[in-house]
Amino acid sequence: MTDVWVLNGPNLNRLGTREPEVYGSLSYEELVARIDDWAQGLGLNADIRQTNDEAELIGWLHEAADLTVPVIMNPAAFTHYSYAIRDACAILTAPLIEVHLSNPVAREEFRHTSVVSGVATGTISGFGANSYELALRALVGLLP
Ligand code: DQA
Repeated sequence: MTDVWVLNGPNLNRLGTREPEVYGSLSYEELVARIDDWAQGLGLNADIRQTNDEAELIGWLHEAADLTVPVIMNPAAFTHYSYAIRDACAILTAPLIEVHLSNPVAREEFRHTSVVSGVATGTISGFGANSYELALRALVGLLP
């Protein structure tokens, strides 16, 4: 089983009740269970984490870099302004797939910029929870 870290940024722990018209009604716990199932079905071992703390997310990215583990990340609002998250992503040498539940470029203008995309292997947005499944599938295609 290949390890993959699935890192989720701020407010994603509120899925289910947070703007369901944008993010759907699946709770964060249900999303985690789905990601876990999808990963197992693809022969991946997913370590799924969420934080509201930028420093904690940077620490996880440093660890992922040290372990050369692939990362699927939904940076949430950090996507749009955190150069510190971007710089931490730039340290990674294994694939990094950026995911979003919604399609940020179809939303408010401040969401049209991702400071992370330029250092990601690729980005998958707009498919709800299935964005994570697509990212896991994409990752399998990138593995040696
Ligand atoms: C998000 C999109 C971001 O703009 C927003 O700040 C989020 C969630 C998404 O998954 O659609 O928190 O990353």
